[in-house]
Amino acid sequence: MQGDNYNAWNIKETDFPKKESIEKKIEFIIGYGILAPSTHNTQPWVFKIRDKKLEIHPDWNYRLKESDPSDSSLFFSLGCCTTNIELASKYFDLSTSVKLEETPRKGCHITLSFEEKNKTEGHVDLFQLIPYRFSNKMPYLEQAISPEALKKLLGYNSKDVGVDIIANKETLKSLAVLHSYATVKAFTNRNFRKELTNWLRTNFSASYDGMPGFTMGASAFASILSKSIIGILPSKLVGEKEKSLVLSSSAVGVLTTTSNTPQDWVNAGRVYEYIALEAIKNKLYMTPIAAISKDTDSVSKLKDIHQLKNKFVQLLFRIGYSNAKEYHTPRRRANVI
Ligand SMILES: Cc1cc2nc3c(=O)[nH]c(=O)nc-3n(C[C@H](O)[C@H](O)[C@H](O)COP(=O)(O)O)c2cc1C
Repeated sequence: MQGDNYNAWNIKETDFPKKESIEKKIEFIIGYGILAPSTHNTQPWVFKIRDKKLEIHPDWNYRLKESDPSDSSLFFSLGCCTTNIELASKYFDLSTSVKLEETPRKGCHITLSFEEKNKTEGHVDLFQLIPYRFSNKMPYLEQAISPEALKKLLGYNSKDVGVDIIANKETLKSLAVLHSYATVKAFTNRNFRKELTNWLRTNFSASYDGMPGFTMGASAFASILSKSIIGILPSKLVGEKEKSLVLSSSAVGVLTTTSNTPQDWVNAGRVYEYIALEAIKNKLYMTPIAAISKDTDSVSKLKDIHQLKNKFVQLLFRIGYSNAKEYHTPRRRANVI
């Protein structure tokens, strides 16, 4: 790993401030929250600690107007962050309850209420995998997903968040074509490209957010050029690359909800993070592919490919086996107010 901007990943459970106040404990636990995935690695969260409560608010400075006009991905990212905090809390014997609350004027925030317990039941194994998770954006090994792993991932399906995993080769081919179509469509929007460019970083950037080129397989040299290249890259070429990435995958996951509110977006994010950690436990990798879910036309085409009647599609993600070396994106220090 590189400079201070990657320090967040060195969090150690042995540093938990066992003897200190609950507020100090919550502050420590937030360190696991910020390791969650977020769109373009914007890390759109602000934390408020009040008594035994932690509020996770959207940081509107990190809205992505072009790629996420509804803010659904922003709230999804807050959901991922919530899961990490929930897992860490349980691991450190703090019981939590999670609630989404209206914020006057602007949307809503998540409130976690904590209580110290002698022993709480938690997913110890999933908690310990938090620092190892990363969105593996490399091609996968074209290997079928094991039935055991498939069953584990499908175990996160619930009435609030539907989890579909498409592993059928023919359906995957159709999905790859559709994902390519949606990607080309997004890339024909100049403002979308401009916004994306703002979040690209060189491989040796000291920035605390955004996406270094190596996350997309770029060499140090290519990562320097990426900001200028992305603006002029033919959309079709990007679409073809994305298609081949889907084709290399063992499966594609689809998260759905029955309504489409901030609560649903947070719920979907919470489930995504559980699945991402469960995937590591099963030697699998994952990475979100948002293009289809962001385009109404593509969503209706998706419903022709796969039965998702009356459901709101929140996110698709690739799943697969990989030999890629673990890598991470930078993180800002938590903004606790
Ligand atoms: C809601 C959401 C949508 C995302 N969409 C995409 C996507 O379409 N393509 C992609 O390559 N990565 C996507 N990502 C992954 C982010 O780029 C990644 O989480 C971020 O760069 C942080 O890196 P990490 O997940 O490895 O920690 C998405 C992440 C989230 C939370």
